[in-house]
Amino acid sequence: LTAKYVKNDGSIENGRLLTGLKNVFSKCLPNMPKEYICRLIFERRHKSVVIVRNGSQVIGGITYRTFPNTPAARLGEIAFCAVAQTLQVTGYGTRLMNWTKHYARQMDGLEYFLTYADNNAVGYFSKQSFTKTVSLEKDKWYGFIKDYDGGTLMECRIHPTLPYAA
Ligand code: ACO
Repeated sequence: LTAKYVKNDGSIENGRLLTGLKNVFSKCLPNMPKEYICRLIFERRHKSVVIVRNGSQVIGGITYRTFPNTPAARLGEIAFCAVAQTLQVTGYGTRLMNWTKHYARQMDGLEYFLTYADNNAVGYFSKQSFTKTVSLEKDKWYGFIKDYDGGTLMECRIHPTLPYAA
């Protein structure tokens, strides 16, 4: 099992991984239109962390948006998060989030994640240290992240030195 940081850089390998991730999201997030998932995953400000089994099989991932060169530069907005249905609740989701914090800090210099959690996923995000109180100053996130009703806004501070990927 490995975790990879993937963006749409035009390479065939990354295209294959992002297509695999799009298929997982389409199955696991039935309320999200497929075209919308596809557009965000392949858009250049979005980054994904993908978990891969047996060298090539994508079994889950997280896609987040970055806001470089804005007041929200230290913030990532998690757009999608899922683990393949048959493998849920066996610990992959926790490992996935830890790898995502590791890469977001290392590759994008992020200090915070915000996300609109689906009601059935609030428990999962709470276990990953997300809280319903947002501590980040409003001018560093408000107006940047997408307004989305039907979810609960949750925040996580990415620790500057914790070895998430250990
Ligand atoms: N409600 C409450 N607790 C949960 C839930 C849940 N829905 N899912 C997992 N947990 C808990 C587990 O019990 C576990 O706790 P423990 O460490 O005390 O045992 C902990 O969270 C981690 O569980 P994992 O097994 O690592 O989680 P999993 O691999 O199932 O991944 C995920 C969680 C990503 C939510 C997965 O279940 C999934 O893909 N669900 C369907 C899609 C979905 O709802 N995605 C999130 C939508 S919101 C968004 O994308 C922004």
